[in-house]
Amino acid sequence: MNKKRIGILTSGGDCPGLNAVIRSVVKASHLKGWTVYGIPYGTDGFVDIAKGKYQPQDLILTGHSYDLPGMLKGLDVLQFLSGSILGSLSKGHPEQTQIKEAILKGYQILALEALIVVGGDGSLDIIYDLAQQGDWNIIAIPKTIDNDVPFTDYSVGFTTAVEIVTQGLYDLTFTAASHERVMLVQVMGRDAGHLALRSGIAGGADIILIPELIPYLTPETINGCCSQLAKIRKSGRQFALVVISEGVKNQEQQKEKYIGDYLSQCISQQVDVLRSNGEKAFYDPIDVDLRVTVLGHLQRSHTPVAWDRLLATVFGIKAVELIAEKQYDRLVIWREGQVHSTPLSPIIETLKQCHLEQRCAYPVKPHGFMVQTAQALGIYLGETIV
Ligand code: F6P
Repeated sequence: MNKKRIGILTSGGDCPGLNAVIRSVVKASHLKGWTVYGIPYGTDGFVDIAKGKYQPQDLILTGHSYDLPGMLKGLDVLQFLSGSILGSLSKGHPEQTQIKEAILKGYQILALEALIVVGGDGSLDIIYDLAQQGDWNIIAIPKTIDNDVPFTDYSVGFTTAVEIVTQGLYDLTFTAASHERVMLVQVMGRDAGHLALRSGIAGGADIILIPELIPYLTPETINGCCSQLAKIRKSGRQFALVVISEGVKNQEQQKEKYIGDYLSQCISQQVDVLRSNGEKAFYDPIDVDLRVTVLGHLQRSHTPVAWDRLLATVFGIKAVELIAEKQYDRLVIWREGQVHSTPLSPIIETLKQCHLEQRCAYPVKPHGFMVQTAQALGIYLGETIV
């Protein structure tokens, strides 16, 4: 049996399920008699190896690397734990010559046969470029709560994030109802609306605004939000849930850190205008009482749901199989209910082009079934900008 030395690193923003990927890679590799090196903090780990901060043997992952103390020793916790036991790097500077050289040197010291990169839209292209320069054999595994990696229906971490946001909406419903309020929830996703759309549908939102349909807020959409709220009130319900994806821009087409607050102000101002114009729907008995919740990084830090554990496990095993078959430079993907792999270079080209044009590489399809589902439920999705 060829005893391979392989490496694994996690890169970009963390998400639930990273440790489950690591666990599955380690288990499958050990069964083949391979040695797995866990690279700390993404590509920074290579720099530290080059500097002598880590000795290669200290980075070897064994079944006992993360044992708990006492009577819990031996408990296999990796598939339950969120975060990454290897740490992750969300902003690196590998473009700087000195750093790049150190990364390449660190990789050489480990003398790996292949590297598994667990990364998202933002980090895969950076590592791919390094791999080309260093002649590394890489396999990429998609992970991100944004679900914006092209060619895969699911990235690790996304389903758990949908669960967290859905639960958040459910929890907010009761306080909203008790106080007759409109709860406005700002959801992550960068430039993609998958997370906001799916959790908004599952969580019972009345309004969902995502960048694929509403790249920026317009007076028409703000007015449409007011009309939807008036319609809900007229139906006898005195509370509502609004979901806005962080990727939606303001009226000046600029990104806002707190687009939820911005939308809340716009709606309040518009309600005042409608009221002063004598619009009946916005008179007593109650005001439109808005509260904003920014779920933030809670969306990334939760024990992975069963599907993310499974996906992570299947992806990890597929990556090991690909290395065993010497099929390198591939992205492991989930497509039509099956695990597959696809060549990495066209994906990297797509990602680069999209970054250049500041657009999402795997957006929500404006006429896809999820949008149609929301429409069929009467959820307001804004006035499409042509
Ligand atoms: O890409 C994942 C993500 O959580 C996005 O949804 C969000 O915009 C971003 O990362 C937040 O990044 P940071 O952790 O650097 O604040």
